[in-house]
Amino acid sequence: MLKGKTVVLGITGGIAAYKAAEIASKLTQAGARVEVVMTDAAMKFITPLTLRNITGRPVVTDMFEINSEWSVEHIALSEAADAVLIAPATANTIAKFALGIADNMLTSVVLATKAPVIIACAMNDNMYANPATQENIEKLRDRGFKIIEPAYGRLASGKQGKGRLTDLETIIRKVDEVLGGKGDLTGRRIVVTAGVTQEPLDPVRHLGNRSSGKMGFAIAEAARDRGADVTLIAAPVSLADPAGMTVVHVRTAAQMKAAVDKAVKQADALIMAAAVADYQPKTIAKGKIKKESKDSLTLELVRTPDILGEVKGNFIKVGFAAESEDPVGNAKKKLASKKLDMIVANDITAPGSGFDVDTNKVTIIEKGGKAEELPLLSKREVAEKILDRVAKRMGR
Ligand code: PMT
Repeated sequence: MLKGKTVVLGITGGIAAYKAAEIASKLTQAGARVEVVMTDAAMKFITPLTLRNITGRPVVTDMFEINSEWSVEHIALSEAADAVLIAPATANTIAKFALGIADNMLTSVVLATKAPVIIACAMNDNMYANPATQENIEKLRDRGFKIIEPAYGRLASGKQGKGRLTDLETIIRKVDEVLGGKGDLTGRRIVVTAGVTQEPLDPVRHLGNRSSGKMGFAIAEAARDRGADVTLIAAPVSLADPAGMTVVHVRTAAQMKAAVDKAVKQADALIMAAAVADYQPKTIAKGKIKKESKDSLTLELVRTPDILGEVKGNFIKVGFAAESEDPVGNAKKKLASKKLDMIVANDITAPGSGFDVDTNKVTIIEKGGKAEELPLLSKREVAEKILDRVAKRMGR
């Protein structure tokens, strides 16, 4: 969809500004006419000359440049744009957009344009997490701006955090999508499970684990954003239901099995990130179990159904393996015993990995393929890597 389209690429002043050169190059190679607008701060990190050579177009940096080819420049540029992409977008410029400030060429173009605006955030993690920045981003989202969240990783400060510009493929895909392009999973039906099943002991207690649902929700959202028709089967978590998909709420492993068996009848892929209990109490007490005078209590547990191992049908099956020892070896055994197409070995002992964190450290193993170890990534980035492989298996 990029061919022949005009994309205004706004660059603001952060260390990730150097990556804008590659974004400009990818957009230009895809056939877009790229009009670059740089703030003064952006020019401290990368020169207009680099961008001019990549795009073959003059780079706009000055509101009051009289030799410019654009008449009443910010208005002409804002009208010529089919899409405006700000990458990287700093907290400062985001705040200006939220307030409608127009004190330089870029903020003026954004205030004047009727084209869709995509904002790829990149900044220090504390600045990103600050409620002021979060409120500004929410305001822009409500006004229809497309927000690309930053990724987790090494920041300019040297520490790890959520603030790095996300991967360039995701940014280009978003521009393409905004211009009417279809995601690579369009027309595909994907079932995702997430969260922790609860196996009741009595009316007030249950057996469970520490899963937050973040990994499964990230997969469901990424699949939706790539055009898939998503059914998310969610065991209890404190995350809000994502928009744009069917969400089925379940509590126990047995309920999750029933929901999965029903949803996969129409599916092209099943991805099971849920942390399903392997055992459930043999009986559920009718009333609250009393302490009485006993010092110990023995519970008899029985196996829950193996949802992924027993599911029937001709679709791509992806499992997760949460492991504390030999993640790859154990995951390979589960890949074979559950007859899966792919398994994501999840090292739950690695720092920043596994349960209830925003990042994950995984190795993806495909049937008949080699184990591919990924670095510590945000759960959204892990989701994209899994979906890249699912899309490939679907011939996309
Ligand atoms: O939710 P988060 O806080 O983001 O944490 C993410 C996670 C650690 C829960 C996730 O990344 C993960 O590893 N999920 C799988 C956890 C798990 O149950 O692993 P397992 O090795 O016990 O199970 C193997 C596979 O079989 C899994 O795909 C599981 O969903 C499935 N399973 C397990 C038991 C069962 N009775 N039926 C199943 O289908």
